[in-house]
Amino acid sequence: MTTTMRLGETGPEVFPLALGCMGMTPGAYGHADEDESVATIHAALDRGVNLLDTGDFYSSGRNELLVGRAIRDRRDQALLSVKFGALRSPDGGWLGVDGRPAAVKNFLAMSLARLGVDHVDVYRLARLDPAVPIEETVGAMAELVQSGHVRHIGLSEVGAETIRRAAAVHPISDLQIEYSLVTRGPESSIFPTLRELGISATAYGVLSRGLLSGSVPRSGDYRAFLPRFTGENADRNRSLVASLVRLAAERGTTPTRLAIAWVRARQPWLVPLLGARTRPQLDEALGALELSLDDDALAALEAAIPPDAVAGTRYAAPQMRMLDSER
Ligand SMILES: NC(=O)c1ccc[n+]([C@@H]2O[C@H](COP(=O)([O-])OP(=O)(O)OC[C@H]3O[C@@H](n4cnc5c(N)ncnc54)[C@H](OP(=O)(O)O)[C@@H]3O)[C@@H](O)[C@H]2O)c1
Repeated sequence: MTTTMRLGETGPEVFPLALGCMGMTPGAYGHADEDESVATIHAALDRGVNLLDTGDFYSSGRNELLVGRAIRDRRDQALLSVKFGALRSPDGGWLGVDGRPAAVKNFLAMSLARLGVDHVDVYRLARLDPAVPIEETVGAMAELVQSGHVRHIGLSEVGAETIRRAAAVHPISDLQIEYSLVTRGPESSIFPTLRELGISATAYGVLSRGLLSGSVPRSGDYRAFLPRFTGENADRNRSLVASLVRLAAERGTTPTRLAIAWVRARQPWLVPLLGARTRPQLDEALGALELSLDDDALAALEAAIPPDAVAGTRYAAPQMRMLDSER
């Protein structure tokens, strides 16, 4: 029996690993098999995973339609985390972020219809809108809590100051942020702020988008544009992954499990978001729960993969500039 965790002081009880659905529709990581995606969500619910993460801009709404289809008869077993705010053009391009109060309510109305639900469990701004004070955006989300359309408020990729300002308006359940063996930026000021304010984190990129599990970008795959997957960086990063493969083999486990177990051992209060898109990937990732790492194991891993060893930033320069968490 796996022990559940509370998402922040005010949030829901969740399984210690959550499922991210972004890669389950085409547009992020190349081709996606939507029937297998639905089967993967069902398998996750069967295993007790109850937090599913999506975004209204993932595949321009198609991802929410997929998640809605998967939970149609299982709404009571699923908690929905939904991101909003990112604007897309008809060809899938990025148009910026909109955090204005009226836009927030409009985004939610569309999400509820696509998901086929009457409320979202954790609603979160995907990226800070530099033109709108966070108090105004969170104020609109708080009104949606009062009207019963949202249960809890979350944030994504914002820094310590924004977290404090948001939490002064309404309790925040969790911050979604990238964190892994090769992405340790949140350790310096973001995690201490979350701990102080009683806010959890849901961590994405625990496999650095598949870099640590040896995934290679395919056709139509956004990772082909990410600095860590391209050119000389890719060559240098492959040698880091080789160290992880060796350490995993020594422990009789896989690099994927070792990378997820490292996140859980380093930050036991945090919930890793699995990017699994097939049932075998899900099964492999859930196996990380059986792996516990002592101080010696952590030290060996961190010696083989030091905090600044990875080559390349986590996003390309224009997307890096949109990250309040990197300021
Ligand atoms: N808030 C934000 O800004 C933000 C940003 C990105 C993602 N997210 C959320 O985080 C979730 C996780 O996505 P991520 O890309 O960051 O996840 P990740 O776990 O770092 O990478 C996922 C990729 O790793 C590969 N992989 C190989 N074996 C795997 C296994 N056993 N289990 C899982 N993945 C395996 C898969 O690629 P192949 O299938 O190609 O091998 C998969 O697409 C997303 O679905 C989304 O909900 C949030």
